Amino acid sequence: MSADGWLEDTRTSYDTVAVSYADYVRDSLDGEPYLRSALALFADLAGTGGGPVADVGCGPGQVTAVLHELGIDAFGIDLSPAMIDLARRDHPGLRFEVGSMTDLRLADASVAGLLAFWSLIHIPDETVPAVFGHFRRVLRPDGPLLLGFHVGDGSRLKTQGYGGHPMKVWVHRRQPDRVAAWLRDAGFTIEAQMLLHPDDSVPGAILFARRQP
Ligand SMILES: C[S@@+](CC[C@H](N)C(=O)[O-])C[C@H]1O[C@@H](n2cnc3c(N)ncnc32)[C@H](O)[C@@H]1O
Repeated sequence: MSADGWLEDTRTSYDTVAVSYADYVRDSLDGEPYLRSALALFADLAGTGGGPVADVGCGPGQVTAVLHELGIDAFGIDLSPAMIDLARRDHPGLRFEVGSMTDLRLADASVAGLLAFWSLIHIPDETVPAVFGHFRRVLRPDGPLLLGFHVGDGSRLKTQGYGGHPMKVWVHRRQPDRVAAWLRDAGFTIEAQMLLHPDDSVPGAILFARRQP
């Protein structure tokens, strides 16, 4: 496997499941009141300064669309061209581009806020500091960051999903304290964290941080 074989595998996997994944998440936020509230709060924080807000690892764009409905100039970036095709089809008024958080092609200090929901879960530990370095670089000083991720320990190779389609994608579970420590090292201040579904076998976490000036 080449150094970035995992990235290529992730792209191919999400290309394969894009249509079924989009069906799976289309209305998923309806049953997630805490997540919706967090998005409203994030929109409030990011909207204060005005300017574009990036949804990194946006998938089919359902969260980007919610941010747009909340009055934010949101746009999406995703590794998977098939996901971006679907996002453009389902949300024709919004901007979506193919790209990777490992090589974020955005200008320095160009976004007023950045969100990454359940996309960092595919980035191996050794690459997370570089990704957070990109997040800091592209955010304006004091810009808010909102992360969502699976809570736990260890990494698993997911070999099928979303209707039984073949996948080859690593999923990394992490403790919020570990993610917070990486963020502090990258120049962020942690402002809040919330544990979602703590009684589930794999809870979720969302973490609000802010780029230090
Ligand atoms: C579990 S889905 C989450 C999608 C969406 N954020 C949501 O909440 O439904 C993971 C997404 O992250 C994307 N992704 C994985 N690695 C990425 C990377 N290096 N850069 C950008 N997107 C990535 C995948 O293509 C996929 O669309």
